[in-house]
Amino acid sequence: MRKKIVAGNWKMNKTLADAVVLTSELMTLTQNEVKNNAVVVLCTPFPYLLKIKEQLGNSTIVVGAQNCSEHESGAYTGETSAAMLKSMAIPYVIIGHSERRQYFGEGGALLAKKVDRALAAGLTPIFCNGEQLEIREKGSHEALVKQQTEESLFHLSPADIRKVVIAYEPVWAIGTGKTATSQQAQDMHAVIRGHIAAKYGNDVAESISILYGGSVKPDNAKELFACKDVDGGLVGGASLKARDFVDIIKGV
Ligand code: PGA
Repeated sequence: MRKKIVAGNWKMNKTLADAVVLTSELMTLTQNEVKNNAVVVLCTPFPYLLKIKEQLGNSTIVVGAQNCSEHESGAYTGETSAAMLKSMAIPYVIIGHSERRQYFGEGGALLAKKVDRALAAGLTPIFCNGEQLEIREKGSHEALVKQQTEESLFHLSPADIRKVVIAYEPVWAIGTGKTATSQQAQDMHAVIRGHIAAKYGNDVAESISILYGGSVKPDNAKELFACKDVDGGLVGGASLKARDFVDIIKGV
């Protein structure tokens, strides 16, 4: 059975003090509300990871990073390696978020290296793909998302691609309040899963969790998560408010 995952992506938000308050609210509110096999991940800014991890203790919530370097180690000022994350026992790392692609020029080949680093360190990459509005309007969204998936993941062995979590995030839905309809989400998730099945077989494709991201809110989470190929969500804005995030988690 595929893992259900709800990951909060805090992006570059909150002071440390505010992050601690949010975490403690989440811990209180999620008691008995995280369904058995669901995983809840808080992708915090790098400097808060250890503090929030410590605060979570053996709660069912875990932490994740929002990025890692494509390099193993060395003279790369300002970067954080996958091995460093591993040394802090951080289990998840987001790779290829559309903001990294857009503002930091990260492309498919570079992201493939980051995925490799994450897997080599034993982390679970949450690999993001998704199309911009113009691409959807042109009707090329399926082709683009297949290409993004291929470029960064299809060099992996079947055993390794099974360890990856994918997050389909249409760029036009991120932070805009414009969510994909559950039908649009399901269609794209089926395209991604079908593409993986064509290369790796059904068994591998059926084992990979594919999350939806882009304006997930308490009032649309349940319907999105009920879709056959939607295995949870990657949540930005709404993960910064404890009540909203918990209501989303309840929808999984
Ligand atoms: P949003 O962000 O939920 O604020 O749209 C999602 C994301 O960027 O992962």
